Amino acid sequence: MPHKFVVEGGARLQGSVRVSGSKNAALPMMAAALLAKGPTILRNVPDLSDVRLMAEILETLGADVTLFAEPGVVVIDVVDEAPIHAPYELVSEMRASFCVLGPLLARRGEAHVSQPGGCTLGERPVDLHIKGIQAIGCEVDFVRGDVIAKGRPTGGRVYLGGPMGPSVTGTANVLCASVMSSGVTIIDQAACEPEISNLVEMLNNMGAKIRGGGTSRLVIEGVDELRPANIAVIPDRIEAGTLMIASAITRGDVTLEQCDPDVMLALFDKFTEMRVPFERLDATTVRINCPNRAKAADLATLPYPGFPTDLQSPLMALLCVSEGYALVEEKIYPERFMHVPEYRRLGADIRKQFNTAIVTGVDKVYGAPVAATDLRAGAGLILMGLAAEGTTDVMKIQHVDRGYDRLEDKLTSLGANIKRVEFFPRRRASDRNSKRARAA
Ligand code: EPU
Repeated sequence: MPHKFVVEGGARLQGSVRVSGSKNAALPMMAAALLAKGPTILRNVPDLSDVRLMAEILETLGADVTLFAEPGVVVIDVVDEAPIHAPYELVSEMRASFCVLGPLLARRGEAHVSQPGGCTLGERPVDLHIKGIQAIGCEVDFVRGDVIAKGRPTGGRVYLGGPMGPSVTGTANVLCASVMSSGVTIIDQAACEPEISNLVEMLNNMGAKIRGGGTSRLVIEGVDELRPANIAVIPDRIEAGTLMIASAITRGDVTLEQCDPDVMLALFDKFTEMRVPFERLDATTVRINCPNRAKAADLATLPYPGFPTDLQSPLMALLCVSEGYALVEEKIYPERFMHVPEYRRLGADIRKQFNTAIVTGVDKVYGAPVAATDLRAGAGLILMGLAAEGTTDVMKIQHVDRGYDRLEDKLTSLGANIKRVEFFPRRRASDRNSKRARAA
């Protein structure tokens, strides 16, 4: 039975909350466990439907996966290294599963991975992944929707810059494909995201020789063999940012524990412009105490260390109720504005053209039924619901469950009024008729 969130607006969030491990670090790290036979142990893994799906994919690829026998711990024991095929049924459920391509190729010499299609964020090609894998000496073919990569990587020069900057999972794939190559690989225009640094740390922990993690040039000296890893996933900067914005939008006073403020400087810079007070209490603790209405500020999303596209819709929710107007430019996914019509249903004033939206802050937004179109749109709608007068029903919350670990519990612990309830989708007349026809 599907669920929805019922959010009663108006509560001022207060208290402390712990940030979970990062989804976008955990998923490629789970895939990288395929690089060694035996049990890899990942700690601080968030409990998400995407993590559970990645576990299922790894099981079809010969791993025994134990999820959360202890809190945050996932053990991926690679027992059978024969399977090489990640089929359409699984890959089409989650784009990040394409991250098994590099590890399978490196360790098993061949990988057949279904090519992911587009999604609500836009087209999302994988040409940079393919270009990188070819540049390190492997053959790539396309058969019945599968990408087929073959050969022992020799190493080489790879340039991963695309029209929207480097590719994050593209960097993960080429990096994993090259760690056991016969020569040296240099990746230029590599993604600098902290999630990639976490992957580099994991691979080095397994015995790889990679320099330059966190910079745009990665130098990888191939090694013959890797051993299983034991490593912690970094805190989720997007979850942390979402909760910080939740504090600001409710004029609350929330302290985030176990986050990494050093990787959130673009959001803090925006908070300074928007007059949202924040205080770093120590290396892993940040307090957002925001008694006043925020001021609008322009926003452009960029690759790290720029403002993350994954926080565009949450920050836009805050802009909708801030003082003044702001230009929001989406430079990573030009079509990532599916939340705009839903925000408008709540009373937001937003005009949009191509990859730009103009948001004029309104004094109030009002509860209404709305639907999440993707993960971050869903988070933004919950934030809007917290700020709205009345009740907001957020449908299609399976998107939210993909990437936020017990978000409603965390918000409830801060005083929000949010409930997950079963709901019964209206049956269409055509469904009723076909049921009658079947019964007849
Ligand atoms: N691109 C290309 N060619 C490619 C790959 C990407 O042109 O071969 C383009 C994309 O179309 C996009 C831009 O490059 O315009 C950046 O895409 P990227 O490949 O970096 O995105 P990704 O690796 O598929 C990861 C996150 C996304 C996050 C983006 C951008 C994971 C599992 N996913 O996706 O996270 O938005 O980086 O930071 O790490 C989310 O968590 O909600 C989410 C969508």
